[in-house]
Amino acid sequence: MTSPPVTPALELDGVSFAYGRVPVLHDVSLQVIEGQFVAVVGGNGSGKTTLMKLALGLLRPTAGRVRLFGTPLESFRSWNEIGYVPQRAMAASALPVSVDEVVASGLAAKARPFGRRRPEELARIEHVVELLGLDRSRRSRMSELSGGQQQRALIARALVTAPRLLIMDEPTAGVDADARDVLRDSLEHLVDVEGMAVVYVSHDPEGFAGLADRVVEVCAGQVGVDVPTVAPRAAVDMG
Ligand SMILES: Nc1ncnc2c1ncn2[C@@H]1O[C@H](COP(=O)(O)OP(=O)(O)OP(=O)(O)O)[C@@H](O)[C@H]1O
Ligand SMILES: [Mg+2]
Repeated sequence: MTSPPVTPALELDGVSFAYGRVPVLHDVSLQVIEGQFVAVVGGNGSGKTTLMKLALGLLRPTAGRVRLFGTPLESFRSWNEIGYVPQRAMAASALPVSVDEVVASGLAAKARPFGRRRPEELARIEHVVELLGLDRSRRSRMSELSGGQQQRALIARALVTAPRLLIMDEPTAGVDADARDVLRDSLEHLVDVEGMAVVYVSHDPEGFAGLADRVVEVCAGQVGVDVPTVAPRAAVDMG
């Protein structure tokens, strides 16, 4: 018996993109299904961030199609199912807002009048803040935190909706090994137990070692065949 077809969480189909006349990606196809962790590697300027922005509709492809959970990007509305940690998002850190406010802003799509939060939303904020080791900094302003603590707050923000697809662009840049390991452990749980799909761009293989089902490389405008940069999860599990 064959299993029913699985709708990918993310699907790029023949996507090309150029900034003006400068081509960056050419005829790229990629599928990420729920419960799958795909690491994306590639040199500086190869087009990884551009690829993530295309997946999120922040950039429009010059050719090809993007679908989120089977819905063409143009008509996709369920943005609280998508978490995003942008690369170098620390510009947000100069804002005079507290850690709690940054994390809660991830729930903006579900915001209620007068900022009142449902008990389950407050519990979720509490949970992700603890998960990322930020309990003691909750009332601190972002500008009072270290770079690594700020980055943790942005990761917590992306997780607060319990997304079904999480796109992270260099999430561990600037964070210490402890925070990286906390993130890895929580991602492992979210992928294996909750079936979340993850796309994880990184130059640091330690962040996804033993976690990634697939590692793909962006190179010369293409998303290359899976590269054996690290042992895939199945292989690690056997060992
Ligand atoms: N807004 C922009 N306008 C014009 N060109 C851009 C823009 N953003 C990126 N580029 C160019 O597109 C190419 C891909 O950039 P991108 O940021 O996607 O690379 P990356 O793989 O994420 O690199 P890194 O590892 O340094 O983060 C680079 O040559 C870059 O100079
Ligand atoms: Mg980048």
